Amino acid sequence: MRLLWRALKFALALLTVLLVIAVGLTLFLSRLLWQGATRHPKAVALGVLVLVLGAAALFAALFGFRAAAATLPPQPMAFPHTIHAGTLGLECTFCHRTAATAAAASYPSLEQCMFCHKVVGKDNPNLKPLYEAAGKEQPLNWLRVHRLPDHVHFQHGAHIQAGLTCATCHGEVKAMTEVRQVRALNMGDCLSCHRASGGPTDCATCHY
Ligand code: HEC
Ligand code: HEC
Ligand code: HEC
Ligand code: HEC
Ligand code: HEC
Repeated sequence: MRLLWRALKFALALLTVLLVIAVGLTLFLSRLLWQGATRHPKAVALGVLVLVLGAAALFAALFGFRAAAATLPPQPMAFPHTIHAGTLGLECTFCHRTAATAAAASYPSLEQCMFCHKVVGKDNPNLKPLYEAAGKEQPLNWLRVHRLPDHVHFQHGAHIQAGLTCATCHGEVKAMTEVRQVRALNMGDCLSCHRASGGPTDCATCHY
């Protein structure tokens, strides 16, 4: 259903764009060719404007989806991997505890942060949101940076057990003040590694 809906939305967007371009072209050509461009500068300008808008809309329709995925979600507070995984050299699985064994890597709980921050950083203003959340006994709701569509199944455990490191797919997270997605992780990307490394390639491995 979701796939069908996406295809439909895309087709609609494309149709609208084509329509706008067609109208622009008609306006432009009819005035330009039949009555002379110099006598109708406004019509020519309008035609050009509509054409430019059409081209921009086409561009947005084709590339807008990617641009949207590149913006980062607003996190409940800034969390620097540079300090924790970089300077302090904590293991990734110290916080992402289930990455080597389960499907999801998981986020650390507030208690895990407080394990150190009960003591460290009391006066650091950047830690204020953490202490406020702890005071209210409210979890920090970290938002997803990487997110595959719902019809795709991913398994962290199998990949870590096969000897891959986090950096293979997530890059040098310990050097990131804000985690961003650095690898495509789309179907082509998954499949090309699976083909190269003897991973499964039948549709049902990744699709429900
Ligand atoms: C002290 C705890 C801690 C350590 C150590 C840690 N992380 Fe994280 N990680 C977090 C928290 C909290 C978030 C959520 C906030 C964010 O996205 O930056 C996160 C987010 C991420 C994300 C983004 C997940 C998503 O899609 O939403 C990735 C990828 C990640 N960490 C990888 C790593 C890797 C690789 C390492 C080791 C080099 C590592 N982390 C070490 C706490 C930690
Ligand atoms: C193993 C101990 C440890 C754990 C666990 C830990 N931290 Fe830290 N964190 C530190 C140390 C040490 C510092 C540096 C002290 C300072 O700058 O005041 C720090 C600094 C910070 C800072 C300040 C960064 C800055 O630029 O000023 C933030 C924010 C922070 N931690 C958030 C978190 C969050 C959120 C968690 C849980 C996901 C967490 N920490 C888990 C040890 C830890
Ligand atoms: C083979 C590629 C690959 C490797 C290796 C990998 N990840 Fe991921 N990671 C992904 C993908 C793909 C997603 C998005 C999954 C989804 O949306 O279902 C993700 C999501 C995450 C998330 C957020 C959602 C969650 O699963 O809780 C965290 C945190 C994360 N990875 C941390 C890690 C850590 C830490 C390691 C190393 C121990 C690691 N990843 C290794 C591909 C990988
Ligand atoms: C860098 C290489 C690499 C990338 C990238 C990669 N995989 Fe894999 N994947 C593997 C290997 C190797 C295995 C086989 C592990 C084994 O033999 O158990 C595997 C196994 C799997 C399995 C089977 C898990 C199980 O329970 O047996 C699934 C599902 C999977 N991958 C999904 C994905 C998806 C979805 C993506 C893209 C988002 C992806 N993989 C990206 C290397 C990769
Ligand atoms: C190794 C994992 C993997 C395997 C195997 C795989 N896919 Fe995918 N597929 C993905 C991922 C990840 C996405 C979502 C990202 C994307 O659209 O590229 C996806 C997306 C799709 C989509 C939706 C495209 C869209 O626009 O959302 C279709 C349809 C699809 N796959 C069909 C198949 C078929 C048919 C097979 C078997 C021949 C197959 N897939 C095998 C990982 C896989």
